[in-house]
Amino acid sequence: MILVTGGLGFIGSHACIALRRAGHKLAIVDNLANSKLAVLERIRDLAGGDVAFHRADIRDATALAAIFGRDPVEAVIHFAGYKAVGESVAKPLDYYENNIGGTFVLLKTMERYAVRRIVFSSSATVYGDPQRLPLTEDHPLGAVNPYGRTKQFIEVILKDRAIGSPEFRHATLRYFNPIGAHPSGRIGEDPRGIPNNLFPYVTQVAIKRLEKLRIYGNDYGTVDGTGVRDYIHVMDLAEGHLAALKFLLDKDRSITVNLGTGRGNSVLEVVNAFERVTGIPIAREFAPRRQGDVASCYADVSLASRELGWQTKLGIEDMCRDAWAWQSANPRGFPE
Ligand SMILES: NC(=O)c1ccc[n+]([C@@H]2O[C@H](COP(=O)([O-])OP(=O)(O)OC[C@H]3O[C@@H](n4cnc5c(N)ncnc54)[C@H](O)[C@@H]3O)[C@@H](O)[C@H]2O)c1
Repeated sequence: MILVTGGLGFIGSHACIALRRAGHKLAIVDNLANSKLAVLERIRDLAGGDVAFHRADIRDATALAAIFGRDPVEAVIHFAGYKAVGESVAKPLDYYENNIGGTFVLLKTMERYAVRRIVFSSSATVYGDPQRLPLTEDHPLGAVNPYGRTKQFIEVILKDRAIGSPEFRHATLRYFNPIGAHPSGRIGEDPRGIPNNLFPYVTQVAIKRLEKLRIYGNDYGTVDGTGVRDYIHVMDLAEGHLAALKFLLDKDRSITVNLGTGRGNSVLEVVNAFERVTGIPIAREFAPRRQGDVASCYADVSLASRELGWQTKLGIEDMCRDAWAWQSANPRGFPE
């Protein structure tokens, strides 16, 4: 059985479908801190098979032990954590407690039950301000906010754990910018409150939940002055987890690897693609740069291709189409 922490969240829910469809037996652990129970039924429908669910907090050692004690766990895929950069600046202790504290309890429980494989959701944010592009995995790390530092610290903890115990293996996946949704439109990104990220903002302007898109900065040294990011379709990212899991189960080593497309798109390119695909105009205004935002960020994906045999298949128009299928069918997100 594969234990998936945070499996009801945006990326976890899509990964669970890919994993279940590939024949893995799954159990999700989620405390619903940033997700809704309605996601579970949809995962089960789309995955075409049963998926076990435990409502629990990964910081709760007793609850985790009960779950690990029930069914042998082959490997863990660890999505659970907080992820909002701005909130992490305002509430750093909550972020350190949940992200690092939660991972610590999880790793201790894995040790106790001799579970020695973990796929971890890291982030391109660990690189901080890029010194060169595309970003290769050996680029120096330098996260510039508490959220990013939680990811950077957890990476160190995983490396130390692997040094101390050679049979322990981790696949640390540095995601770039996941967007899009399952092509059915039944699951997708459902942020609480005003979205922090570009794409849910765009789709919420399109359904008229928000009035207009604010684009932070149009004076960067990029193709059109707006920020450039490596957007990756969440279904491609989900497949990346399958490849990482296979790597851990087949090979006798750990890996830290970028998951992106290797291509950058500017904010305006993404908004224009969305308008082209959906035919819906997106009202927009330019605002000053946001502190901490970098001009451009995109991945070198050669390691993922070489080691995991994985590469993305979907482009920016697929991401726009599928995100819109989700948002237009679920204008208020998942039901309570
Ligand atoms: N979405 C992105 O842009 C992005 C980019 C890079 C990395 N990541 C990382 O990928 C992972 C998944 O991201 P996401 O976008 O799906 O986020 P998400 O918030 O949608 O999903 C995280 C899930 O974890 C659960 N959770 C949080 N704390 C928990 C706890 N203590 N115990 C049990 N469950 C808990 C939440 O309820 C939620 O369902 C996160 O670790 C995030 O930091 C996300």
